[in-house]
Amino acid sequence: MRTFEGVLSKIPAATFAWRSPSNIALIKYWGKREGQVPQNPSLSMTLQNAYTEMILSYEKCSGTAQEKISLEFLFEGKQNPQFAKRIGAFLLSLLPTYPFLANVHLNISSRNSFPHSAGIASSASSMSALALCLCSMERHLCGTLTNEEDFFRKASALARLASGSACRSLYGGWVLWGAHDDFPGSSQEVGIALKTPIHERFQQWQNAILVVQASPKEVSSSQGHGMMVNHPFAEPRYQLANERMKTLVKALETGDVELVAQIVEGEAMMLHALMMSSQPYFLLIRPQTLLLLEKIRQFRHSQGMPVTFTLDAGPNVHLLYPLQVKEKVEEFIVRELIPLCENGLWIKDEIGHGPRPLKIIF
Ligand code: DP6
Repeated sequence: MRTFEGVLSKIPAATFAWRSPSNIALIKYWGKREGQVPQNPSLSMTLQNAYTEMILSYEKCSGTAQEKISLEFLFEGKQNPQFAKRIGAFLLSLLPTYPFLANVHLNISSRNSFPHSAGIASSASSMSALALCLCSMERHLCGTLTNEEDFFRKASALARLASGSACRSLYGGWVLWGAHDDFPGSSQEVGIALKTPIHERFQQWQNAILVVQASPKEVSSSQGHGMMVNHPFAEPRYQLANERMKTLVKALETGDVELVAQIVEGEAMMLHALMMSSQPYFLLIRPQTLLLLEKIRQFRHSQGMPVTFTLDAGPNVHLLYPLQVKEKVEEFIVRELIPLCENGLWIKDEIGHGPRPLKIIF
């Protein structure tokens, strides 16, 4: 194994590329401690169609190492100063881990599969893609991370430092992040693929994203996490999330549709209730969000349909349903839900397989 220091004098130029997906949390991460450590464990479903593709190439910088990052970043072929700044700051924070970053010039280019006017958060997919590119670079330069398990674990740890929820995008299927006594191997530092066998009803879960509002939200997730400090309901919330994790995984295993809906919807409502009871309070859902939730609940009760919703930190609604009822549910979406979406926009997705390296064609 070559050491990081050993590679400083001999840096061959290279390019790496990854496709990494987004994920949607069923048990929510909301509240963190110093060092991107979650206050409670979370569980997500990895998506298949919503992903980021990223290409990272580097060449040796002339001159001596500096305590700064030399970066050119393009998003969908164009300059994006805001995103470039976030990536630059993250890379700078990694200098103690990767001193070689001070000796290279980096070119990073990324694109998302989903329309950026859809109001879908891209930090999970983009930061996990970046973490994967960095791990490929480490492997190339240092000969480390040759074992797949170590590679993805390190990528998950790096992604977490950039954005908490990104650490769950490194694996396909169901991913757990945060230590929980009932799940051996669960960790505060990395996401792990859930080992529990999931009932066939949920194995090919579909996810329709109903876009209520595409414009960026007024309060970022990071600000929202900050408002959990001294929140009056913080402690009971963290305790409940732990209990719900156990109950939800059991319900996913036994195929208990009602219980899954009760917990997943309860988590979405609690996330927004926590925002509404922060000081100062804030509100990210919109009247259309509530109308959609009402319609979904009515559809489930009147038709006996196994549909469930969840919400991210925003007004858009994620509808979850088994593959077996896809046709009927999508008819319902077109008939009743699309009229409530902004410009009729909705996006079809489903449970996904996780990241994959991309072939680079020059
Ligand atoms: C509501 O991962 O975006 O989507 O760690 O500050 O980048 P940072 O926050 P982020 O928070 C996600 C919050 C959530 C719930 C979840 O994905 O678990």
